[in-house]
Amino acid sequence: MLPPGPKLPKPLQTAMMWTRPHRWAATNRRRYGDVFRVWAAPSGWLVYLADPADIKTVFAGDPAVYHAGEANSILRGVLGDSSVLLLDEARHRDRRKLMLPPFHRDAVRRQAELMAEIADADVARWPIGREFPVAPRMATITLEIILRTVIGTEDPARLAALRQALPRVTDMSLLGVAAMAKPELLRRWPWRGIRRRRAEADALLYAEIAQRRADPRLAERTDVLAMLVREADEGGRQMTDAELRDQLITLLMAGHETTATALSWALERLVRHPEVLRRAVAAADAGDAAGDEYLDALVKETLRIRPVIHEVARTLTRPVRVAGFDLPAGTIVMPAMGLVHASAEHYPDPERFDPDRMLAPSSASGSGISPVTLSPTTWFPFGGGGRRCLGATFAQVEMRVVLREILRRVELDTTDTPDEPQRVKHITLVPGKGARIRVRARRVTPVPVR
Ligand code: HEM
Repeated sequence: MLPPGPKLPKPLQTAMMWTRPHRWAATNRRRYGDVFRVWAAPSGWLVYLADPADIKTVFAGDPAVYHAGEANSILRGVLGDSSVLLLDEARHRDRRKLMLPPFHRDAVRRQAELMAEIADADVARWPIGREFPVAPRMATITLEIILRTVIGTEDPARLAALRQALPRVTDMSLLGVAAMAKPELLRRWPWRGIRRRRAEADALLYAEIAQRRADPRLAERTDVLAMLVREADEGGRQMTDAELRDQLITLLMAGHETTATALSWALERLVRHPEVLRRAVAAADAGDAAGDEYLDALVKETLRIRPVIHEVARTLTRPVRVAGFDLPAGTIVMPAMGLVHASAEHYPDPERFDPDRMLAPSSASGSGISPVTLSPTTWFPFGGGGRRCLGATFAQVEMRVVLREILRRVELDTTDTPDEPQRVKHITLVPGKGARIRVRARRVTPVPVR
C-alpha cells in the first residue's frame, strides 16, 4: 500500500513535479506529513521521505534493493553505460572504489592552489559599480576547475576546445532530455547536432586519455584523470578508455553546474546578510584555521538552506516496508534534503541564514571554534549511504577557496532586494535571477593566502 498523497489527476501531478517540485513537495508535506506519494511520468510513483529515521533505513539499506543507478538511468545516453552514477550493486561498488582516491581530502588539498588561481583570474575581470548576475561567472570558474584539476588539460588549444565542447554535451534542453530518454532519436533531425557535438567532445576526451597514458610524468601528476589511469582493482584490472570517458563526463555533469549553483547561492545569501558578509570578509582576510572554520560553516549553511538538489532517488527492486508502508517493487523512494533542511524540528527558525549554527565553541581546537557534528540524515546536501556524492569534499574545498578569493579581491555591495526565488534548472534549484551582485570596488589585498 502506498502512503497518502494528492488526488490531482496524474498529468497535473506530473506537471507540478517537472515545474516546481520543491514547492509541490513542501505543500504535500504540510498536508500529508513526513511520508507521502506523488505521481510523475515517466518515472511512476515517487514516495517522499522527510523523517530522518526513514531516510536512515534507505541510506543504510541493501544496495541490491535500493537502486540509485536505475533511478538515474535517464542519463545513460549522455554518461555512458559504465558511469558510476548509473551502476548498481557489485559493479557500482567496484567502480566507486577505483574512483575514491582522487577525491580523498589530501588529494583535494593539493588542488586548492590551482582552484584559487582560476578564481582570481576570473574575478579580475568582473565589472565594478554595475549589477550583474554572478551565476554565469561561477559556471565559468567551476568548469575551468574541472578542466584543469579533474581532466588535467594543460594545452591551451585543447583547453579552449574543451571549454566550448563540454557544456554543450550536458545540454538539458527539451531536445537534450528527449535524446537522453530515447537515444535512437539522435539519428534524426533536429537531434543530429547533439550527436555531432557529443562526438566532438568524445574525440577531445579520448585525446586527453591517450596523452595521459603516454605521459612520462604520469606517476607525479595530481589531476583526477591521471590518478584514474594509474588506479587498478584487486585483480590488477584498469579502466578502459571507454570507461574513463564515461567517468569524465559523469564528473563534469555531476560536479560543474552543482558547485557553480551552490557558490551562486552563497553570494546571493551573503549580499542580503551584511553581518555574515562582514564576518566572512574578516575570515577570508585572516586565512587562518578559525577563518577557514567560518568559511566552511558558511558553505554548510548555504547548502542547508538552499540545497542544490532537493531530493535523491532509489528504485525498489522488490517489495519493501518503508516508513510503515508496504511499497511495491518499482516504486522510487526519495530522501528529501529540501524538506528535512527546512524543518523547524531539526533547525530552529529554519528560514534564518546563520552560519553560526554550524559552529560550536571549542577549547580543544586552536581556533576556539569547531564544526558541530552534523547527522547524515538531517544535513545531507550530498545524498547518503554508499551513493553519497563522490565529490563532496572536493566541492566544499572548492567553495571555500573560491569564496575566499572573491571576498579578498572585491568589496561586495549589500542589497535589500527580495530573496531570489528557487528556480528549477535540470535537476538543480538555481537562484531565479542568476544571483545578482554589485562590486563596489576592488580591494588591495594583504599577502595571498595559500
Ligand atoms: C555543491 C556541489 C555538489 C552537490 C550539491 C552534489 C550533490 C550530489 C548528490 C545529491 C548526489 C547523489 C547522492 C545520492 O544519490 O545519495 C551526488 C552524486 C555524485 N556526485 Fe556530487 N555534488 C556536488 C559536487 C560534485 C563534484 C564537484 C563532483 C566531482 C567532481 C561530484 C561527483 C559526484 C559523483 C561521481 C556522484 C555519483 C556517486 C555514486 O553514485 O556513487 N559531485 N552529488
